Amino acid sequence: MNRREFINWVGVGGIMTSLPIAIAACAPKTLESSAPSEGSTPSVSPRTDGFQAIGTTVDIDKTGQILNENFSAGKLLVIRDPINPAQVIAVNPTCPHAGCTVAWQKNQDSFVCPCHNSKFASNGTVQEGPAKQPLSTYTAKIENNLILVKAS
Ligand code: FES
Repeated sequence: MNRREFINWVGVGGIMTSLPIAIAACAPKTLESSAPSEGSTPSVSPRTDGFQAIGTTVDIDKTGQILNENFSAGKLLVIRDPINPAQVIAVNPTCPHAGCTVAWQKNQDSFVCPCHNSKFASNGTVQEGPAKQPLSTYTAKIENNLILVKAS
């Protein structure tokens, strides 16, 4: 092998060696390494304690609520506890009157149904009908800025 062949051989080898590194550096971030967006699901499978990560405190502070329609137990709406904002409250936002999806209205301190204006307190109890049944709730907590909800 002469000097020119050796340099060409090393050059091709160098490119082939560094190509995967260059591709990896230019690739988009994976779900695990990127910050989740509103309502995203950083971890869809339950942990051994039954809690599922459904977002982060950054997510909930963007709009004041996280709606997740892919939660294992059904629809899920999470808000910060209006009495203790260091905690979160999770409800099934399906209105028990006729099935519309309620939303948290901070100015009314209530979950409000857009269909017939039923109102529910942050703990899900009925404040105003026509709904007669409360919203169902889930156990929820914040751990290391992750919002965790237990399906049962
Ligand atoms: S569906 Fe909610 S009040 Fe009727």
